[in-house]
Amino acid sequence: MDPNRVLLFDTTLRDGEQSPGISLNTQEKLEIAHQLARLGVDVIEAGFPITSPGDFEAVQAISREIEGPIVAALARCFVADIEAAADAVRDAERPRIHVFISTSDIHIEHQLQSTREDVKGQARAAVAQARERCEDVEFSPMDATRADIEFTAEVCQMAIDEGATTINIPDTVGYTMPHEHTAYLERLYALTPGLKDVVLSVHCHDDLGLAVANSLAGLLAGARQVEAAVNGIGERAGNASLEELIMLLHTRAADIGLQTGAVTTEIARTSRLVSRLTGYPIQPNKAIVGRNAFAHESGIHQDGVLKERTTYEIMDATTVGLESNELVLGKHSGRHALKQALEDLGFEVSGQALNTAFKRFKEIADKKKQVTAMDLEALVAEELREEVTGYTLEWFDVEASSRRPPHATVAVATPDGGEVTGSFTGDGPVDAIFRAINAAVGHEPKLREFRVEAVTGGEDALGETSVVVELDGQTGSGQGVSTDILEAAGRAYVRALSNAIRRAELAARGEAVPSATP
Ligand code: KIV
Ligand code: ZN
Repeated sequence: MDPNRVLLFDTTLRDGEQSPGISLNTQEKLEIAHQLARLGVDVIEAGFPITSPGDFEAVQAISREIEGPIVAALARCFVADIEAAADAVRDAERPRIHVFISTSDIHIEHQLQSTREDVKGQARAAVAQARERCEDVEFSPMDATRADIEFTAEVCQMAIDEGATTINIPDTVGYTMPHEHTAYLERLYALTPGLKDVVLSVHCHDDLGLAVANSLAGLLAGARQVEAAVNGIGERAGNASLEELIMLLHTRAADIGLQTGAVTTEIARTSRLVSRLTGYPIQPNKAIVGRNAFAHESGIHQDGVLKERTTYEIMDATTVGLESNELVLGKHSGRHALKQALEDLGFEVSGQALNTAFKRFKEIADKKKQVTAMDLEALVAEELREEVTGYTLEWFDVEASSRRPPHATVAVATPDGGEVTGSFTGDGPVDAIFRAINAAVGHEPKLREFRVEAVTGGEDALGETSVVVELDGQTGSGQGVSTDILEAAGRAYVRALSNAIRRAELAARGEAVPSATP
């Protein structure tokens, strides 16, 4: 392989999914995995199969569907973990098992309550077992950057002797600094003779805001795989941001001299999809994908960019795919045009799903002059979710006035094809609709989160709402899209409630709740 080619290992669906409040179902994980494949990542870490039947099912589904990237599954150094990971990726075109165990004394003593000798034995046996099931095995000494480097090198050499093909060095708690990371890896190369024959990888967390800088330091020290997550999501402050790393290597290629296989024009869409499905908003000033990343406020900057873009821009917005807000469909567009536009966006929609998408498209196109690619993305994400939920909002009436409390009446279609109605007088129109829905379906969840965002700019912009509710200790999230914020809110609330009901019912029956985080 080209010695300057950097492998992109995406952990959005594993480390990213460990972020508080994120709970993706298999369908959503598949959608993200397909988009990651379009983005051109080399490895998709699809999950941690031992942790729940839902995680296992998602890793298996991704393994069966995804073509191109390697599909990796995470496992601790336990027999059952490795068997679950191996079974889950068995049908992948290019499977990988990723095993990890801590090498820092602080973890060995307090978390594992074990000894260095035991860690060596476990690592050796686990890599050997994983190699029996899969030719591609990655080994990670967890918390390596706070560990004794001699001991970590010894464990890594053992893993290599047992057949590990990638050694990944995690900065698990985001503690290291760029110059320290470079020195660490250079010393690790010196202490681990076999390291030059395998791929060295880095996995950096952002607790001190250094994840991307530390990842770059790792690449400069010889690593040729970098682990990252879309929008930088992940444990605590998150992982290195995938889009920042891609654009760093792309924009400064002449100086850094390393390449990736990323299709940069897919970045914006990938970021929006992950944000939408995880419910994690993107801060406006976020590098590469934030709303303001290519906006110029000051007159001097605007003047400069109008005269010559490069005066104040080091990247072109079109390089990261931000041109996709162009008009794609009009109010007279037919079903075929919609199907084609969705295919161009990477969504294969047919049958009943296409009928539903078309009905919703027409409703929106009637109210909105231009239906853009970003509108369609929002719509499809919303409609795809419908398949896994039970209730849907049929209609609502709300009387709102600043002189008396708003009163709402709603009708909700039930999973068995019936209809229930409910009414409530609330503190505001949204509150009245939410509580009327509670009255209709007979549940009283706690509202944990409610967000409203405009999908695009403009007066007739679609509003996209995200709702998270909690019922009997189980959370459920949902999204809604409409030109009418109240309708979008109602749609999102019904979906969130449906998801929470489903999860609460499973938990009450003692069955595994899907998408529980590890
Ligand atoms: O941060 C970490 O140490 C991890 C490992 C499982 C690679 O996520
Ligand atoms: Zn991590």
